[in-house]
Amino acid sequence: MSPALAGVAFTATQRARLATIADVVDPEPLGSFRSGRAARALQQADVILGHWGCPKLDAKAVGLAPNLRLLAYAAGTVKGVVTPALWSAGVAVTSAAAANARPVAEYTLAAILFANKGAFASREWLRDQRVRVKRPRPLGNCGARVGIIGASFVGRRVIELLAPFDLELVVADPFLRRAEATRLGVKLVPLPELLRTSTVVSIHAPSLPSTRGMIGAEELALLPDGATLINTARGALVDTDALVVELRTRRISAVLDVTDPEPLPAGHALRKISNVFVTPHLAGAQGNELVRLADLAIGEVERFAKGRRPLHPVVEADLARIA
Ligand SMILES: NC(=O)c1ccc[n+]([C@@H]2O[C@H](COP(=O)([O-])OP(=O)(O)OC[C@H]3O[C@@H](n4cnc5c(N)ncnc54)[C@H](O)[C@@H]3O)[C@@H](O)[C@H]2O)c1
Repeated sequence: MSPALAGVAFTATQRARLATIADVVDPEPLGSFRSGRAARALQQADVILGHWGCPKLDAKAVGLAPNLRLLAYAAGTVKGVVTPALWSAGVAVTSAAAANARPVAEYTLAAILFANKGAFASREWLRDQRVRVKRPRPLGNCGARVGIIGASFVGRRVIELLAPFDLELVVADPFLRRAEATRLGVKLVPLPELLRTSTVVSIHAPSLPSTRGMIGAEELALLPDGATLINTARGALVDTDALVVELRTRRISAVLDVTDPEPLPAGHALRKISNVFVTPHLAGAQGNELVRLADLAIGEVERFAKGRRPLHPVVEADLARIA
């Protein structure tokens, strides 16, 4: 992992727990697999415990690790780390994406409830000194339809968190079966129907060749007047220029934790338009939420040590449809 995460990603208690499970051959973060220190660690390792900034396990690194059997990744997507060489070597891979989904879903829950309440728009109205601006009328959270794009880890968690509220949930996801949607208590609908009928639309699909730009001018035009688009997934899923055009009409609003480009350059339109609420990619695990990622990964190391199957495996065949 990135050396900057030393003392942050794994608490002293978690390191102590790890030491009861495994012989930790090198307790300091390795930011590269190209050093003598890395070669010595790889030579002995059965398991690599990785986190943000973990270097790619390419053929050279895998070749230095004859005993490697598990990559326990204590963060979300493993796509920056895994390689064909790692899969060919038969190394099992686990990810903490499920743990990282929790804070993203919590952020989304708050954004949905605030959006239907008109809280973002009303705050701007309060701050606006020009009296000619009309006070926005909130839609409300009673019976409103919420559209979830993607029954991913995050999407499913959002669905769970929304259960106690008086909202109707629809989901668009080409991989979700109708029976599973029923089990989740949601209605599976085509994306255009979701966009046409939801007062809040929240994007939770992964960034894939098939999803990049999936929300463009045509899709934005389908949103009802007063709707809010929430994006905590990846900026590239939304056509930024088209979104800026639509936001400037003031017909819709947006809550964006991710943008394209990211970070937003100084002076970018999304920094200035008042009907968009932008945060700097903070929905995922931050601060005390990081502890869950490490707990999940250490749990996978423990299962490995006991000869058990991982609870959160990532398999090569799924890479084309996951984050
Ligand atoms: N803002 C943050 O800090 C933050 C943190 C974590 C994850 N994310 C992002 O949130 C999104 C969800 O992450 P995740 O780990 O839950 O994803 P995931 O890996 O669980 O998503 C995979 C699922 O997405 C669904 N999907 C695939 N293609 C789709 C499509 N075309 N339309 C609708 N659904 C589709 C399928 O159900 C698939 O199984 C990703 O874009 C991820 O990068 C952001």
